[in-house]
Parts: sequence; C-alpha cells; structure tokens
Amino acid sequence: MKVIVGISGATGAILGIRLLEGLKEAGIETHVVISPWAAANIQLETAYTVKEVEQLADYSYAHKDLGAVISSGSYRMDAMIVAPCSMKTLASIRLGLSDNLIARAADVLLKERKKLVLLTRETPLSDIHLEHMLALSRMGTTIFPPVPAFYNHPQNIEDLIRHIVVRTIDQLGVSLPAAKRWGGMKEA
Ligand SMILES: Cc1cc2nc3c(=O)[nH]c(=O)nc-3n(C[C@H](O)[C@H](O)[C@H](O)COP(=O)(O)O)c2cc1C
Repeated sequence: MKVIVGISGATGAILGIRLLEGLKEAGIETHVVISPWAAANIQLETAYTVKEVEQLADYSYAHKDLGAVISSGSYRMDAMIVAPCSMKTLASIRLGLSDNLIARAADVLLKERKKLVLLTRETPLSDIHLEHMLALSRMGTTIFPPVPAFYNHPQNIEDLIRHIVVRTIDQLGVSLPAAKRWGGMKEA
C-alpha cells in the first residue's frame, strides 16, 4: 500500500510525525509533503527537525512542487492522510484549488475516487469549516478530527496520540499490532 501524508500548519505537528512512524511500523510506503507553516510548527512544537520528519517517509516532496509524481493520477496511490489538517488546507481541498502539492494530491485522490482522511484541527468550528467538512464528507472523504479517547486510560500525551494514530491507520483497513482497543465494559 502507498500512502501520501500531508502535514499542514495546524497545531499538532506531532500527529503527522507519529502517523509516519505508525505507517512505517505497518509496512506501508509513505510519501510526505510538509507545508511551510507545518515546518514552522514542527520547529515550534517538537524536538524534530523538518529533515528528520521527511526522513521518516520513503519519499518526500516540496510543498510547491506541483510537478512531483503525486501531482498526477497516473502515478497510482492508494490513500492520502492530512495530519494535522488546517482549515486553510481543508478549504483548498474542498474548493479544488490545487495550488500546492498537498491540495493538488488531495484533488487527485478525490478524482481517482481513492481514500482521503483529514485530521481536521480547529476549535471551535465556524459555519465555513463545518460546511467544508460536510461537503467533503459527502464526496467520500473521511473527516477525522484528532479527538482523544479516555476509555483506554491514557497515562500521558503519547498514549493519546498513539490512540489517534491507531484509529487513523484503521481507516486504511490496516491494524497496527499492539493497539489498545475497547474490549467491552467487563474489561474497563
Ligand atoms: C502555532 C500555530 C498554530 C496554528 N494552529 C492552527 C490550527 O489548529 N488550525 C488551523 O486551521 N490553523 C492553525 N494555524 C494557522 C495556519 O498555520 C495557517 O492558516 C496557515 O495558512 C495554514 O497553511 P497550510 O494549511 O498550507 O499549512 C496555526 C498557526 C500557528 C503559527
């Protein structure tokens, strides 16, 4: 399986990083695109350099490189995940702007009717945000806000992130081993 990971400039750059690591763990080929504001947030919020994040993927591309292979539907990809997905990138995808490689790759995935998962990150949500999400959802996109769960007793932030990553990779029909899952009330 070949998956594009877009990292945009919403807070939560670590979600994209842990997702790349999780996809590698699952043996999935990854192609990453990092927006300039995502690069700023990687530096601001994490201990990783942008280069280190790019190196977690099998392939990386410049955000402005609209000539990259993933800009074309003739280069076969199976799915794309944007993590985190800013409201600006959400809007660009919904409107089909294709003015950078994250928006263009998502546009290609939509036209090729492939799996697109957006970890939309903003709160609270305006009517604009909600309308974009509903429109994309009706086109088959999975709107997947990175909301933590508490039923599995997370002990720290990494546990919260891991659960979101596991559930995101579930959307591809792939189960990460050692994922902690809900086992019913008796196990709680
Ligand atoms: C520290 C920081 C946190 C941000 N968090 C969010 C956020 O959670 N959601 C959002 O939609 N935009 C957020 N933004 C604003 C986006 O970075 C901005 O809209 C940018 O244009 C997004 O461009 P991109 O989607 O191409 O990365 C944040 C910006 C900064 C500097």
